[in-house]
Amino acid sequence: MFKTRIPLAQLLLVSVLTGIAIAQASPSNSSPKSTPNVQNVSVSPLFIGVAWYPEQWPEERWEKDLALMQAAGITMVRVGEFAWSRMEPAEGKFDLDWLDRAIKMAAARNIKVVVGTPTAAPPAWLTKKYPEVLPTWEDGRRATHGNRGHYRFTSERYLQLCRRVAEEMAKRFGHNPNVIGWQIDNEYGPVSYDDETKVRFQAFLRQKYQTLDRLNGAWTTYYWSQTYDSWDEIPIPVGYHNPGLMLEWKRFISVTFRDYQHNQISAIRASSDPRQFITHNFMGFYPGFDHYTVAAELDFASWDSYVGQGQLDYMWNAQTHDLTRGFKRRNFWIMETQPGSVNWAGINNTLDRGEMRKLAWQAIGHGADTVSYWQWRSALGGQEQYHGSLVGADGNPRPVYEEISQIAREVAKAASALKDTTPAPETAVLFDYDSRWAVDFQKHNRNFDPIGYLSSIYRPLRELTQDVDIVHPSAPLDKYKLVVAPALNLMPRERAEHLAAYVRGGGHLVLGVRSGMKDENNALLPSRQPGTILSELLGGDVVDFYALDKDFSVTGKVGSGQVKNWAEMLEAKQPGVDVVLKFGTSNGWLDDKPAVITRKVGKGSITYIGAWLDEKLTRDVLASEVSGSGVKQILPGLPSGVEVSRRVSTDGKTVLIVINHTRQQQQVTLPRPMRSLLDGQQKSSLDLPPSEVVVLASE
Ligand code: GAL
Repeated sequence: MFKTRIPLAQLLLVSVLTGIAIAQASPSNSSPKSTPNVQNVSVSPLFIGVAWYPEQWPEERWEKDLALMQAAGITMVRVGEFAWSRMEPAEGKFDLDWLDRAIKMAAARNIKVVVGTPTAAPPAWLTKKYPEVLPTWEDGRRATHGNRGHYRFTSERYLQLCRRVAEEMAKRFGHNPNVIGWQIDNEYGPVSYDDETKVRFQAFLRQKYQTLDRLNGAWTTYYWSQTYDSWDEIPIPVGYHNPGLMLEWKRFISVTFRDYQHNQISAIRASSDPRQFITHNFMGFYPGFDHYTVAAELDFASWDSYVGQGQLDYMWNAQTHDLTRGFKRRNFWIMETQPGSVNWAGINNTLDRGEMRKLAWQAIGHGADTVSYWQWRSALGGQEQYHGSLVGADGNPRPVYEEISQIAREVAKAASALKDTTPAPETAVLFDYDSRWAVDFQKHNRNFDPIGYLSSIYRPLRELTQDVDIVHPSAPLDKYKLVVAPALNLMPRERAEHLAAYVRGGGHLVLGVRSGMKDENNALLPSRQPGTILSELLGGDVVDFYALDKDFSVTGKVGSGQVKNWAEMLEAKQPGVDVVLKFGTSNGWLDDKPAVITRKVGKGSITYIGAWLDEKLTRDVLASEVSGSGVKQILPGLPSGVEVSRRVSTDGKTVLIVINHTRQQQQVTLPRPMRSLLDGQQKSSLDLPPSEVVVLASE
């Protein structure tokens, strides 16, 4: 199910509303003929990095830290992202000399630098002089200073101050050969409910709808006398509100973060070498804003991958890597991951020995071009004293240092084989924030978590195909043999046409429950699900939907099992529609009615799964889709719990990363001999102890 990591900044918020939708601009990917599905996606050599905060330590200590980093094989440090009070100790008085010296010292140790802009943590002089930059939380409280994230993303004043510090930094480091790129801010999240933000939200609506008639019509505002006669009557939604308004608020937040980010990107671009990249560290499935919108201007996306309490749930991480790769449809970075433990979980257990190694290699397998640890050493004071780190309070390596050194040594061995490679799946899962929010706003069954539902599809699909992209529904789909859309709740006309064209072109499309119910304004479509265009193609539709308080049986040609949480009564209306599963005895309404239907369309097909099926049956239904679509596994016969990921290049290189996530010894037979990059041996089969990682290459 959906796991939410709660970073410190978010703990401040009573609740975080967010997000947007503006359809992703989808420049078509060039897919070279020789290796289908591969884009030019490599974003750098592979770095193993750490977050380093030189400002927290006396300069005499830096040399020792950098020497220890070099000895561990660390090749990148990220610096600066909270150091505003050191960079601009008084308004307009900049001191970047210390950072310059730190970057030079890192260069002397062959350690590259990513510079973070410090705007997630404005200094005290700033919030004192300009209190209007502090955000107002959802409950009307004004934020206080000192817990980071205490800025208002709509404040003109704040944008000016951010721009100026970013400009100063770019002038200073934009041509520094040891600075390879930039991170803007840190983990966007907090939004504000103040009056100025409300005025901007109203302006956003006005620009979008042009007339109040249009807005009132789109949101059905005669309902509960919500009719707006003037733009300034429109509130920021708090709590359960009009679904159209709630969706637009999310969209507003998304474009506001996009613009907030653009303000700094444009300042940096103006004074930096084009070779320097710009990224941001996202938080996986964080619901606050539309990540496709915010990532659009970045060179690549990064995410902060933490396990928190417990052990690595490798499928969850796989899914989040694939999501992040999909934001830009190219490789990504792990900008932060945990060295051992975190400090914010219920129980901050340390990952088992060998688990960080699995995490790192899994990320790389899914397209990470860097893995960076948070953090090098805990500050002696501050809120995160207990967090995992490579070096302890005494300044010496902690036990995890050795495992991270091993990872760094191994990555160095595999780096040249991995260069310019990326995953190139034949299967895609479609995901969009609009649909996710629309379901979240009105779950109808409190157990219906849209990310949990996505996960219930992703997990078996990944096991069956061993390779999955997660992309926005507007992405080009022609390179995929199989496309699965769980709960694609919003189905504007262009989206339906895009999906129908995919099927008519020979693609295999699978729709999950709650698909095709709403228009782009989050109003119900005046048709049955999944909407006129796709219903015609399917030769059937959804008669009615049911939130379930108990499980029912379901049975058919692919097997039998249970349905939970959600069921839809389907009707097959046209010849050639095949009923794959039917409900058993249920609530009387659904008894014996179709639960899954499918229809061939030329060489393609369209399937509607009208029930949240149990694990085994989901797998059985998807298995028949996988075989019907001709998707091939990377390593047929792989034991359950052993993961393979594949990265390929346009010039025919293939790298496989095989990880034994089980606690047993496992055997794997390779279809052809491959070179093992970590021990240099040629292998035709693998004997994998628990937690073992093998990296294989063939040219
Ligand atoms: C992240 C944040 C880091 C650090 C880390 C601790 O959310 O970006 O600055 O706080 O969590 O796990």
